[in-house]
Amino acid sequence: MASKLFVFFLVSALLLVMDSSFAQMPGFVSLDCGGKEGFRDELGLEWSPDNLKYGETTNISVENESRTQYMSLRHFPADSRKYCYTLNVSSRTRYLIRATFLYGNFDNNNVYPKFDISIGATHWSTIVISDANTIEMRELIFLASSPTVSVCLSNATTGQPFISTLELRQFNGSMYYTEFEAQFYLSISARINFGADSEAPIRYPDDPFDRIWESDSLKKANYLVDVATGTKKVSTKLPIDVNRDDRPPVKVMQTAVVGTNGSLTYRLNLDGFPGPGWAFTYFAEIEDLAPDESRKFRLVLPGNPEISKAIVNIEENAQGKYRLYEPGFTNLSLPFVLSFRFGKTSDSSRGPLLNAMEINKYLEKNVGSIDGDIIANVVSGYLSADWAQEGGDPCLPVPWSWVQCNSDPQPRVVSIFLSKKNLTGNIPSDLIMLSGLVELWLDGNSLTGPIPDFSGCVDLRIIHLENNQLTGPLPSSLLNLPNLKELHVQNNLLSGTVPRGLLNRNLVLDYSGNINLHKGSASGSRVNIVVGSSVGAAGLLIATIVSFIFIRKVKKRHPERDQPRHTLPVQMLVSSKSNAPAEAAHCFTFSEIEDATKKFEKKIGSGGFGVVYYGKMKDGKEIAVKALTSNSYQGKREFSNEVTLLSRIHHRNLVQFHGYCQDDGRSMLVYEFMHNGTLKEHLYGPLTRGQSINWLKRLEIAEDAAKGIEYLHTGCVPAIIHRDLKSSNILLDKDMKAKVSDFGLSKLAVDGASHVSSIVRGTVGYLDPEYYISQQLTDKSDVYSFGVILLELISGQEAISNENFGVNCRNIVQWAKLHIESGDIQGIIDPSLGNEFDIQSMWKIAEKALMCVQPHGYMRPSISEVLKEIQDAISMEREAAMVRDSNSDNTSRNSAHSSLMLGSLDMGGNDNFLSLDDTIAQPSAR
Ligand SMILES: *[C@@H]1O[C@H](CO)[C@@H](O)[C@H](O)[C@H]1NC(C)=O
Ligand SMILES: *[C@@H]1O[C@H](CO)[C@@H](O)[C@H](O)[C@H]1NC(C)=O
Ligand SMILES: *[C@@H]1O[C@H](CO)[C@@H](O)[C@H](O)[C@H]1NC(C)=O
Ligand SMILES: *[C@@H]1O[C@H](CO)[C@@H](O)[C@H](O)[C@H]1NC(C)=O
Ligand SMILES: *[C@@H]1O[C@H](CO)[C@@H](O)[C@H](O)[C@H]1NC(C)=O
Ligand SMILES: *[C@@H]1O[C@H](CO)[C@@H](O)[C@H](O)[C@H]1NC(C)=O
Ligand SMILES: *[C@@H]1O[C@H](CO)[C@@H](O)[C@H](O)[C@H]1NC(C)=O
Repeated sequence: MASKLFVFFLVSALLLVMDSSFAQMPGFVSLDCGGKEGFRDELGLEWSPDNLKYGETTNISVENESRTQYMSLRHFPADSRKYCYTLNVSSRTRYLIRATFLYGNFDNNNVYPKFDISIGATHWSTIVISDANTIEMRELIFLASSPTVSVCLSNATTGQPFISTLELRQFNGSMYYTEFEAQFYLSISARINFGADSEAPIRYPDDPFDRIWESDSLKKANYLVDVATGTKKVSTKLPIDVNRDDRPPVKVMQTAVVGTNGSLTYRLNLDGFPGPGWAFTYFAEIEDLAPDESRKFRLVLPGNPEISKAIVNIEENAQGKYRLYEPGFTNLSLPFVLSFRFGKTSDSSRGPLLNAMEINKYLEKNVGSIDGDIIANVVSGYLSADWAQEGGDPCLPVPWSWVQCNSDPQPRVVSIFLSKKNLTGNIPSDLIMLSGLVELWLDGNSLTGPIPDFSGCVDLRIIHLENNQLTGPLPSSLLNLPNLKELHVQNNLLSGTVPRGLLNRNLVLDYSGNINLHKGSASGSRVNIVVGSSVGAAGLLIATIVSFIFIRKVKKRHPERDQPRHTLPVQMLVSSKSNAPAEAAHCFTFSEIEDATKKFEKKIGSGGFGVVYYGKMKDGKEIAVKALTSNSYQGKREFSNEVTLLSRIHHRNLVQFHGYCQDDGRSMLVYEFMHNGTLKEHLYGPLTRGQSINWLKRLEIAEDAAKGIEYLHTGCVPAIIHRDLKSSNILLDKDMKAKVSDFGLSKLAVDGASHVSSIVRGTVGYLDPEYYISQQLTDKSDVYSFGVILLELISGQEAISNENFGVNCRNIVQWAKLHIESGDIQGIIDPSLGNEFDIQSMWKIAEKALMCVQPHGYMRPSISEVLKEIQDAISMEREAAMVRDSNSDNTSRNSAHSSLMLGSLDMGGNDNFLSLDDTIAQPSAR
């Protein structure tokens, strides 16, 4: 009987093994996140449910998407934790890992999710959903260095983090080996099949590794635009010799594009770039050339003349027709907007041909917490406990719920909170190796055995070991902890005597409830607080101490959840109802103002709130006096409350408020005088004649203004929404530094949430359409207006114009959107900028501006994100300007370019080829 059973088990075990080996391509893992049961998809891939312990699952239905793996997803709370998948891998093997996200409006929220995905301790990407029906995909190539890899979602800035699928594809041999693989991942930016016969990608089973070769006819923004005239598709049915199994599949190589006019040109956005990259092109001669015909061409990358030296002759290079030739660069600096061209040589009879290409970005690995291995050992003793399964790095990108880390680039664990977690056995001995440990909470468990020697943790301040079953003495090694401030060991089974040194220290020490633990003979006079079984202290004293400890404990505990995720800089700004008399605004007398302005002699501006006059105080200080026309400040008290608030807002990028004056029903506000007037005047006013401000200066102005707005949004409590941002509200001082004016005149924003206001205020052309319709005011309304200002900076056009934007278009947003989305940025660039700008930085700002003017607030970035983008653009522009300057010292920039064209013996017809700037470093050819 027993043996029969055994045989039965053996057979079924075998069946299981065979079943699973048939079920999946070896090295393939396809997780259907949130799915209920496994299935085989139309490609023949086997999917299994993800079976994760946390998160919730939801089914979605999306029009045009019937593939089963996308019909379910798993989503996680939008809290400060990270949620990880841990996948088994073979060490020292390369993998492709792919994560996909199809939102499908699963939460019926009107906010699209935005969150981060990380691999191990490394930030992989930020997932920004902008369409409920579009699949977002991220792919990465990595060399496994341990038996598992973890992929985590965290940091939801909007909505809830979620995931649809997670796929692992094991590579073979040395595929995608790079000499940098110990420090860098390869993140996939483009993998293109040229001359594709449909929009469908080519993948498994045509590609045995299930790489996705995207069709070149796919319609996406800024994907393969600027195609040269005369570009034709060619294809063959004949097999292509691709030589090794890591090359593109035959089906990809069987199609190509040919530049029948002599040139192939393309432009596309490379996500994640600029930065160092890996780029390969794949060629195979698939046309029949007559004996006297030839196909020779060069790659032209603007700014990279070295690259253009090599001549491609596919047939010769591949040593035959229908054979693969794959030149590439393993370390090439690439821009975000990549323009490239293949141009035929003058002695070639055929134009260039291209079958496929692959571009990956090097993503630097974060080595993670210094204590990662130690913590992994601690966790390995409790694998079945929930807290041990959080996955990923203990500290990065966010720490586990029971861990706190410092902010070093390679963080250390500083606190362990494992109170009441059912821990049994000895205190994990690895804990004593956490040399940065400051707090250790292991109370309320069932720990047994002795207290280990914590001498190596010299920073330890607080130790909680109470309410366990610890035995042995209170070790004198505790005396080696110079910073120890609290030691709680009550209610254990400790024995012996309390080391005298501990009693003598300035220490909160509780060793009560250990029947066999006794106070030593002598105790010094410096004993601060001692609670012990042998101390017959007065009940009152004990009560005081206990409550003291309790309060400390309450204060110290729960570091995990309760902290606000983004701590705002606390600002003195208080609610307008506050009657704090402290910083009242300065009150000018009417005669002071009258004198300063010489009886309101010089009008320097006017706006929604009133007319502005120039003035000069007796001490020489120049001022701008805004005489309010509004009758909304009838109440004197209300007015002075408002100006008190104004006087508390200080930021170098906000026009400084000096004080106010109220007299006889007239209300005036006094500000610093800004010598260079408004941005508007400099963009298209009379001041522009002759000397328009250059692109770098425009970017710097945008940066200044964004900083001012960021301060209003995040630095003030409650946040302030400007409501009326426009180029005439951005003022320039003597040094052309920009400051935002007219802030705070509208009602203060209600903290956090949006609020409904009775009057929509703003200026036509800058007004957030969503706010206009809903009257829901949020900081994103300012972002919309700021986007319009960015478009003005690019184009030098007014926000609203009856003439400049063509028929049926009066609005800069519509006009710019049309151009930018079709890839024609040149069409909107202010002609007065000439050629003196870096097209990369221009693109960066143009694309961000479009994000800012998205129809819905939740689709727009925060002002902080916009600011960061502007700063990136500034550094690009500065670098490019340096190159321009050095070029104009030697040869002029244009002649440098034409010599580059000559160098490539370019016969191609595409003369308006977009030139990129010379920020690309020298490649090292393979
Ligand atoms: C999702 O669909 C699967 C099968 O299609 C079903 O078994 C499951 O109960 C559904 N889950 C929910 C939450 O509706
Ligand atoms: C879905 O398919 C329909 C018809 O094929 C098409 O009109 C629509 O644009 C598609 N929607 C999406 C989101 O792709
Ligand atoms: C991963 O490996 C561990 C240890 O070898 C094993 O217990 C576990 O079942 C594996 N998980 C999967 C999903 O294969
Ligand atoms: C969370 O996301 C925000 C916005 O995307 C980003 O600025 C911040 O650095 C992220 N935090 C972490 C810990 O990655
Ligand atoms: C992986 O490499 C081995 C040996 O080189 C080869 O036999 C096998 O077919 C390759 N696997 C795939 C999927 O190409
Ligand atoms: C290039 O293509 C265009 C449009 O197909 C054609 O009109 C033109 O003649 C071609 N130029 C050359 C040099 O072949
Ligand atoms: C601890 O263990 C007990 C019994 O095994 C169980 O009832 C309890 O839920 C556990 N508590 C925690 C926090 O895991």
